[in-house]
Amino acid sequence: MRTHSCGQITENEIGSTVTIVGWTNKWRDHGGVVFIDLRDRSGLVQVVFSPEIDVELHKAAHKIRNEFVLQIEGDVRQRPEGTINTSLPTGQVEVVVKSFTVLNECKPLPFMVDDETDASESLRYKYRYLDLRRPIIQKYMIMRHKAVKSLRAYLDSQDFLDIETPMLTKSTPEGARDYLVPSRTNPGRFFALPQSPQIFKQILMVSGLERYYQIVKCFRDEDLRADRQPEFTQVDMELSFVTRDDVIAIVDDMIKIVFKETLDVELTEPPVRLTYHEAMDRYGSDKPDLRFGLELKDVSDIVKDSSFKVFLDTLSKGGMVKAINGKGMAGYSRKDLDDLTREVQGYGAKGLAWMKVKDKIESPIAKFFPEESLKALTERLEAENGDLMLFVADKVDVTNDCLSRLRNELGRRLDLIKEGVYKFAWITDFPIFEYNEDEKRYEAMHHPFTAPMEEDLETFFSVDASELRSPDSGLRSLRAEAYDIVLNGYEIGGGSIRIHKKDAQDRMFQLLNIDADEANDKFGFLLEALEYGAPPHGGLALGLDRLVMIMTGAHSIRDVIAFPKTQKAACPLSSAPSEVDAKQLEELSLKLDIVE
Ligand code: AMO
Ligand code: AMP
Repeated sequence: MRTHSCGQITENEIGSTVTIVGWTNKWRDHGGVVFIDLRDRSGLVQVVFSPEIDVELHKAAHKIRNEFVLQIEGDVRQRPEGTINTSLPTGQVEVVVKSFTVLNECKPLPFMVDDETDASESLRYKYRYLDLRRPIIQKYMIMRHKAVKSLRAYLDSQDFLDIETPMLTKSTPEGARDYLVPSRTNPGRFFALPQSPQIFKQILMVSGLERYYQIVKCFRDEDLRADRQPEFTQVDMELSFVTRDDVIAIVDDMIKIVFKETLDVELTEPPVRLTYHEAMDRYGSDKPDLRFGLELKDVSDIVKDSSFKVFLDTLSKGGMVKAINGKGMAGYSRKDLDDLTREVQGYGAKGLAWMKVKDKIESPIAKFFPEESLKALTERLEAENGDLMLFVADKVDVTNDCLSRLRNELGRRLDLIKEGVYKFAWITDFPIFEYNEDEKRYEAMHHPFTAPMEEDLETFFSVDASELRSPDSGLRSLRAEAYDIVLNGYEIGGGSIRIHKKDAQDRMFQLLNIDADEANDKFGFLLEALEYGAPPHGGLALGLDRLVMIMTGAHSIRDVIAFPKTQKAACPLSSAPSEVDAKQLEELSLKLDIVE
């Protein structure tokens, strides 16, 4: 239906006759001459309907409205002096219409198809096909395609096999809520949609396939955020006969190539390596944004010499006091500081103590500190004249969490986060277990198939099971052969070396207080497979949506997913989830009794 794409029409086409198709991007009447921009996936080109060339055509052009679909035949000419648009690849030329056909009309639009939009997300997603016409979202889709193409090519070059795993399956161990699917042929039974292909990919290793990958949908019914969707895509990998560093090397190589091929960005620095403890100590987070410094400092040892009750009470209860240097922020007014305090309280802190570094320390709490402590604090924080030292005192987890969020906020406020900068880190040596305060028991921090670190194996097998109930037990210090890859403050992937022997797996369930029956019921098929010559193996899954979000500079993973779900895990386009026919329920042997 066309000789050229709209975006292809440049100076080279001047003088030729072209046929183009596309959507009416902007209709305007300038002193009797009608201009439209015709848009297809490749871009825009200006089209002119002039009464001097054809009175009837010009008249007909007045019936065109935004987003009408047109086929146009016309002559390409140089734009007159003064009307050239240098920001557009086709900005030197215009197409003078000789004939056109309206291929389809378009109703008045719920919002303009434009990169800048103030339409609400629910309206955009209801009309996602219009939203997807916006050039910026098309750019995201194209980049996502390129990234996937490059990932596949790389994995193929490294002998990975693309193998599909079931979507109708059993609960997997990632620890979120499952999406369930009732079985018609087994009344009262349910499939779970996979939270990841974890168990199947391990079984593929037992099967001797050695290198597996899949670009695969995963489903998790959890609270949604800007970087979380109920269904999302993993680049999922598993390898046999590898160590942690082998997996890391492959992922590093793959990411380098994907950035080069998709963004033409050369990643020259290797990712930083941090242990979990270093990351928590220096950034208060296991997914630190390393595009800026502002490291946190533990000042518990200094403030213990003060008489500030808030700090002393915290320390006496086993908590900690940490601080961050707000570079150049000593000019903050009382109101600014009150606002910042409220913000940090919103993160869960009880308060935010501050000291302005001027010729002397200015702070309502300075009086509680001996001179040498104030000096030690400024030294620890490398604070200079004009800086603002900010302190949080609380339980270790709360202090770290609040200060890491404050750190990100300061990074934004101080304009330290530059576009187009990519800072990767590998976080390793994670604890195997984390204590769940609500349920008063230990849980696997990664998942229960993660192998303990070699150095900790002996303790793993010998630790007294009575420690299971103590929140401060030796279990806390055991480390896993797990690793996360972090990019610009997002966890873009995680994986581990797996347990490949039955005795270690049994022990893991024992330490997690999962009895043999429960373990067999949930994961028996994997446990049995481990007894049939399972090779040492490990792997990782990248969150594709998060990776593409960062690569494109999009603000939410929803922007890089063609048909995303809203905050309430619904699809405004299809109106899913929806009610079903009584007959469908009957076939499933189900009766609805909604509990409010
Ligand atoms: P994990 O649970 O860490 O590991 O998931 C791997 C990566 O998937 C991404 N991700 C998400 N992205 C969008 N929305 C979500 N709701 C969401 N949840 C996770 C993150 C995360 O790093 N089976 C293991 C991997 C392994 O051990 O090999 C797993 O699923 O970027
Ligand atoms: P107060 O003595 O409660 O008036 O608090 C004095 C200062 O300490 C205020 O700036 C509070 O915001 C701050 N503050 C209170 N609790 C904490 C805490 N747990 N950590 C850090 N600062 C705190």
